[in-house]
Amino acid sequence: MRLDVITIFPEYLEPLNVSLVGKARARGQLDVRVHDLRAWTHDRHHTVDDTPYGGGPGMVMKPEPWGEALDAVLAEGPPEPVVVVPTPSGRAFTQELAEELSGRSWLIFTPARYEGIDRRVIDDYATRLDVRELSIGDYVLAGGEAPVLVMVEAIARLLPGVLGNADSHRDDSFAPGPMAGLLEGPVFTKPPEWRGRPVPEVLISGHHGKIARWRRDEALRRTSLNRPDLIESCDPAAFDKADRATLAELGWQPGPDGRFGRRSADVEE
Ligand SMILES: C[S@@+](CC[C@H](N)C(=O)[O-])C[C@H]1O[C@@H](n2cnc3c(N)ncnc32)[C@H](O)[C@@H]1O
Repeated sequence: MRLDVITIFPEYLEPLNVSLVGKARARGQLDVRVHDLRAWTHDRHHTVDDTPYGGGPGMVMKPEPWGEALDAVLAEGPPEPVVVVPTPSGRAFTQELAEELSGRSWLIFTPARYEGIDRRVIDDYATRLDVRELSIGDYVLAGGEAPVLVMVEAIARLLPGVLGNADSHRDDSFAPGPMAGLLEGPVFTKPPEWRGRPVPEVLISGHHGKIARWRRDEALRRTSLNRPDLIESCDPAAFDKADRATLAELGWQPGPDGRFGRRSADVEE
């Protein structure tokens, strides 16, 4: 997979040399190229921003350097890139989107600073390319570089051969598959007892069926506590008899449409 990042802070992307992404680069699974946007400015001060039309605080990134930078990068790579524009006003970047993007061969990221990029840049490239405006959460950062690091790591770990154990993302929170829609429950390793706290006995029982059931109950419990919205949006067909018993214990009941909702009196704190 090829990844291009155009930024005014190339050094901010240094962590892409480290750990899982760094190793994937070293193995040639990821071809990451970081470009300095200021290379496409033509004035003495390498200006990339200007005052906003209509007034107001803050500055806006000028369209010309972005247009030149994107044209130059686009001229080099394979066909059909996805242009990822990090912005708090974009669609939510989810595990599902990470899965989808991990299937593409070329992603170009355009992390902005100031109040963002002149709108015409996004509108222009969207007429001929797959442009995604994506937000990593409901908060505002000073720039898009940290969101790029977040998205690249989420995408890269899904590429075949990047994780040591290909199965290790199968049971992750948000992963499709048997635990789809649920958060992952707690995990434990050796020693069997630490500061008087034993590992749950079932996990050392060797009984695979019971372990799977325990894991699923813990996933239901944690999701119910931390992300009840996920239980509400789960397809009720995904819940078996044992799930339904656990959900009932946690105060969840199916409504007339089959979807699970919570009786307020039972809400667990
Ligand atoms: C200060 S923010 C601009 C915020 C913009 N005025 C707004 O309210 O939507 C500057 C840049 O940081 C990045 N950014 C900030 N928060 C983000 C988030 N939650 N998700 C993705 N990118 C974000 C984007 O690249 C954005 O253009």
